[in-house]
Amino acid sequence: MTTTAAPLLEVTGVTMRFGGLTAVNDVSLTVGEGEIIGLIGPNGAGKTTFFNCLTGLYVPTEGTVRYRDVQLPPKPHLVTQAGIARTFQNIRLFANMTVLENVLVGRHTRTKEGIFSAILRGPGYHRAEAESRAKAMELLEFTGLADKAEHLARNLPYGEQRKLEIARALASDPGLLLLDEPTAGMNPQETRAAEELVFAIRDKGISILVIEHDMRFIFNLCDRTAVLVQGQKIVEGDRETVQNDERVITAYLGAPLEEAAPAAEGTTPAAPEDTK
Ligand SMILES: Nc1ncnc2c1ncn2[C@@H]1O[C@H](COP(=O)(O)OP(=O)(O)O)[C@@H](O)[C@H]1O
Ligand SMILES: [Mg+2]
Repeated sequence: MTTTAAPLLEVTGVTMRFGGLTAVNDVSLTVGEGEIIGLIGPNGAGKTTFFNCLTGLYVPTEGTVRYRDVQLPPKPHLVTQAGIARTFQNIRLFANMTVLENVLVGRHTRTKEGIFSAILRGPGYHRAEAESRAKAMELLEFTGLADKAEHLARNLPYGEQRKLEIARALASDPGLLLLDEPTAGMNPQETRAAEELVFAIRDKGISILVIEHDMRFIFNLCDRTAVLVQGQKIVEGDRETVQNDERVITAYLGAPLEEAAPAAEGTTPAAPEDTK
């Protein structure tokens, strides 16, 4: 049957105010099946806040978020269950758990047993465990971390911690993955590898919405890119559209994006802040 399918993700008029500050201002955005969509903008533009509105961490002041044509309740676990997974700008791993255990935690939304059973090793745990471990190991293979499965997460280099966050997010079997600055702290080689990883995720049938500062990364990957400035979406489109837009150039302090890319790549990013 051919019907006009609704987009996978449909965000309509999302506004987020914190007291007098409008961090996200009437932003609408869609992500279709199989798409990789970019979200860029200067620091403080509201990108992470927008992700928080999509994933139930914040209840938007206004606007709606629909996923697979169903309006999402602003509750993180329900959003994950619906099929949206995310990574954080500030890596959120269980530092003293192993790499494998971190992925197993990401899996718990999809197992009957759940996290408490996993911790308590109650009845049903051992049956579900073998299956979950196999799936988690598959994801570690996929992200190139299999040989580190038994390492403590905190002992991984930064770039691999970011990959582990992605593996953990994928463990919830998402249909849409939100990546918040996935290459922050990565060297250029790791960044190129991360591009391949994002394409491989898309090839598994998972759509992607990605926040990133590295313009080359964004334009290599994305079917469309939206630009957020002071909470507002000022432009959305392909590489040409975004790069040639006067408002985008102004927002990036007049630096042409083509020249901004290699500079951004060679710069060591600032240490992540705690609230994101
Ligand atoms: N929980 C919060 N309370 C108050 N202000 C917030 C909160 N979260 C974000 N902000 C503000 O919203 C603005 C957008 O922040 P953020 O979404 O982190 O930007 P970006 O990810 O684009 O760098 C900033 O001014 C930030 O200080
Ligand atoms: Mg941010």
